[in-house]
Amino acid sequence: MAAAIEVSEVSKTFRIPHEQRTFFKEYFLHPFRRPSYERNEALKAVTFSVESGEFFGVIGPNGSGKSTLLRILAGIYVPDSGRVRVRGLLSPFIELGVGFNPELSARDNIRMNGTLAGLTKRELEAKFDDILGFSELERFVDQKLKNYSSGMLVRLAYSIAIQIPFDVLLLDEVLAVGDEAFQEKCFATFDSFKEEGKTVVFVSHALDLMERFCDRCLLLQSGMVQALGSPHEVADLYRERVLVG
Ligand SMILES: Nc1ncnc2c1ncn2[C@@H]1O[C@H](COP(=O)(O)OP(=O)(O)OP(=O)(O)O)[C@@H](O)[C@H]1O
Ligand SMILES: [Mg+2]
Repeated sequence: MAAAIEVSEVSKTFRIPHEQRTFFKEYFLHPFRRPSYERNEALKAVTFSVESGEFFGVIGPNGSGKSTLLRILAGIYVPDSGRVRVRGLLSPFIELGVGFNPELSARDNIRMNGTLAGLTKRELEAKFDDILGFSELERFVDQKLKNYSSGMLVRLAYSIAIQIPFDVLLLDEVLAVGDEAFQEKCFATFDSFKEEGKTVVFVSHALDLMERFCDRCLLLQSGMVQALGSPHEVADLYRERVLVG
């Protein structure tokens, strides 16, 4: 079976600026001094592939590069070096808040996201109720998103993402702010993704969910691949090496 995602030697470095000219007079004393930068290597030669139909987990401590990796897969960030290939339709949803306009209502955001994803007016019409129904936000459909709670936002974002046709879904911490009832609904959709052969990349700090749903797991640490294998082995390694120290 062809790989749905191929990541080869991907590196990404951010620059952290350090402002040396703390005092106003230093602008006059050192007018040509440039601010210095520290290099922050968020991803270092990351290589792996995800099979089509696989439920693939990414774990690692805060700042280890998980979201950066997903943003590169989504095409939001461009890697400094290396190659990324994603086959099939990529769902636009990646993490909470991305792609939403907080000044618009849920109704308008659903329309906007659906249109951007290429749905025709008729398709959008047909899906609108399903999206709203899954999110259970009917009462709040005309409220601006800036007044939504973080749980309501994630409900809406997830509901839109799964109603738009996709082959590859990238989920970054989507369940962290959803309540238990919504999490259970999401788990049911995870099971159907598996039956339908969809490819999912799932980032979460909940190791029990990794072990429950993932076929394989990648452990990132300081931007490097530390382990790749069965969820149990990788989660155990993470618990031993990283969490205990
Ligand atoms: N747009 C950006 N500009 C500068 N630095 C960034 C940017 N995005 C990410 N970084 C840096 O890259 C590193 C990895 O961040 P990333 O968000 O990928 O971590 P993460 O594994 O998703 O962490 P968390 O578990 O907290 O979500 C961090 O040091 C972060 O500061
Ligand atoms: Mg993150």
